Amino acid sequence: MNRQTKAPPTEDKRWRLVDATMRRHGNRSAALIETLHTVQEVFGYLDEGALRYVAASLRVPLSKIYGVATFYHFFTLKPQGRHTCAVCLGTACYIKGAQALLDALKQRYGIASGQTTDDQKLSLVTARCVGACGIAPAASLDGDVLGKLTPDELVNRIEEATRHDA
Ligand code: FES
Repeated sequence: MNRQTKAPPTEDKRWRLVDATMRRHGNRSAALIETLHTVQEVFGYLDEGALRYVAASLRVPLSKIYGVATFYHFFTLKPQGRHTCAVCLGTACYIKGAQALLDALKQRYGIASGQTTDDQKLSLVTARCVGACGIAPAASLDGDVLGKLTPDELVNRIEEATRHDA
């Protein structure tokens, strides 16, 4: 019997895999971790829509889902901005001025790590190493790794990326 209480957040076919995981575990709350693993595997992260869907489907309080999602380091919560900038705070980048990058973003957009601008255009996160130590300080913007950044350059790249948004 299908005991789900909600349709998936989007029509993306990957939700079928998530549904299959829940079904396999009997849609019980014990399926929670397995289900979140599947969501992360197929989408790459957990966002609010996914967490709400899983909560409703497994009849688990949303707060419990958030607790699990933030407790285990292998789960990644994606902020909601249209663009995501991950500033690297690894040793190499830190020595080369990563903090100045964060300060510049705070000043220009008013957000700190883990936050999203009010217009939902930009989310900022920090990373432990984005794998570009040779071109520190580095940041990743929507998946592109940018290196040898100055605060002005980073702000310019973000302005460029967000300029074409509606
Ligand atoms: S420490 Fe920043 S890329 Fe490795």
